[in-house]
Amino acid sequence: MNNTTTVAVFGGTGFVGKNIVDMLRADGFDVHIFSRSTGCDLLNLNATSAAILQLRPRYLVNCAAIVGSVNYVSDFAADVVDANMRMILNAYKVAQQLRDGILINPVANCAYPGIMDLYEEQHMWDGPIHPSVLSYGSTRRMMLVLAECYARQFGVRSINLVVPNIYGPFDSTNPNKTHALNALVIKFVKAVKNRDESVEIWGTGKPIREWLYVKDFARIVSEVVRDRMDLVQPVNIAQKSGFSVIEIVDAIRDVVGFTGTLTFNSRYPDGAPKKVMDDRCFRAKFPDFQFTDLNNGIAETVAYYREIL
Ligand SMILES: NC(=O)c1ccc[n+]([C@@H]2O[C@H](COP(=O)([O-])OP(=O)(O)OC[C@H]3O[C@@H](n4cnc5c(N)ncnc54)[C@H](OP(=O)(O)O)[C@@H]3O)[C@@H](O)[C@H]2O)c1
Repeated sequence: MNNTTTVAVFGGTGFVGKNIVDMLRADGFDVHIFSRSTGCDLLNLNATSAAILQLRPRYLVNCAAIVGSVNYVSDFAADVVDANMRMILNAYKVAQQLRDGILINPVANCAYPGIMDLYEEQHMWDGPIHPSVLSYGSTRRMMLVLAECYARQFGVRSINLVVPNIYGPFDSTNPNKTHALNALVIKFVKAVKNRDESVEIWGTGKPIREWLYVKDFARIVSEVVRDRMDLVQPVNIAQKSGFSVIEIVDAIRDVVGFTGTLTFNSRYPDGAPKKVMDDRCFRAKFPDFQFTDLNNGIAETVAYYREIL
């Protein structure tokens, strides 16, 4: 594929979107950002359609979302369902109108059942979403329904990459919005700076999660575009390994050099006990992909937050 392929990134100003935009541009693609702060509200179908039909991108990467911490998606549950449903409906309408465009969706793995030992793609529908993420997770499942229905009726092609907790540079620093690992890095970088003696961790620290460095995900999206990958079924972007919040805290403490004490505030919800994804589909499609080692990813994330805080 030549490198003048045009890509539109909805939500290209957000955490995941900005990293994808930077990676695609570094790889030579013609990338255009669509978000409210660049003058495109995905809730406005007519305006978004007009802008996209004028550009005629080959790929639409949909990183637009209203999302935040477990508390945020619970406290603002109705707003979260309302905005995200309407955005994904409009994204599919736009893709339908575009006819020959391909929609790439990062699908947060809160779409999976809350209680499951290993998240396997074929078992996505085998149980209820965890109550702590009901609002947001339901809309992520609906992405997969829309993918199937728009493919069936209109031949719309979409690629659904199911992703775990992502961390790394360019996340929001708003405590309601920051993603889990980044929020921990921020706490420890600030604690060292302020010479705090103690850091409070939200929840018990026991939940096990899979952690994906954001630049790895951006590299995968770029590979999908570059190699014109045709991924019909959802694919877990999976390492099949999980680390508890306590293990992550220890790794961050080592990097930042925090020697104070920890308190765990169990009044904050833990969410699902374990989220680890099966990697068989991933390895079949991306046999040579090398993930960033967790300690290196954390070190780069700490360096980023030291710079901006
Ligand atoms: N971060 C993670 O750990 C993680 C994990 C798995 C999956 N994901 C998925 O990755 C995607 C992006 O998440 P994120 O963490 O990057 O979120 P984020 O940092 O909150 O970014 C959201 C983006 O959506 C844009 N947006 C919001 N409302 C919009 C609207 N009405 N019209 C157009 N753009 C709108 C925002 O820009 P404006 O404010 O300028 O509109 C922003 O660019 C989501 O689908 C999320 O589920 C993220």
